[in-house]
Amino acid sequence: MKILVLNGPNLNLLGTREPEIYGFETLADIETEMKTAFPDVEIDFRQSNSEADLMTWIGEARGKFDGIVINPAAFTHTSLGLCDALKAVADAVPAVEIHLSNTHKREEIRHKSLTAPACIGQIMGFQGFGYTLALRALVHHLER
Ligand code: DQA
Repeated sequence: MKILVLNGPNLNLLGTREPEIYGFETLADIETEMKTAFPDVEIDFRQSNSEADLMTWIGEARGKFDGIVINPAAFTHTSLGLCDALKAVADAVPAVEIHLSNTHKREEIRHKSLTAPACIGQIMGFQGFGYTLALRALVHHLER
């Protein structure tokens, strides 16, 4: 099974970025945690601050990956383009949305996700551990 893990803007700063909200784990720590928890899953782990990169990677996923775990970060709340990209491949490459923080406990602007309707489901509020939970949920969905 091949899974694409996508991370949006500013997630490259994890570890030092508002650790009281996002935790002290770096993105590299999270990648290692996922790969350790699922040694049989081929994980391609990427981050970009560019919405265009993320849309391109999603658009190229058909035929290459079985599923996507995505933290669209701030683009969650703004990007109809990412929503459309996820919908365009959803029949072949289903996605699970992950957030480190519980966005519903935060500012109102973070309560709405434009990307969630294009995903099977959402995991949030468990900091870095949520990524492994999201992958667990995706593997379960794909093995049904
Ligand atoms: C985030 C939540 C977003 O609101 C924020 O813009 C992020 C990170 C999270 O993982 O909690 O960059 O997606």
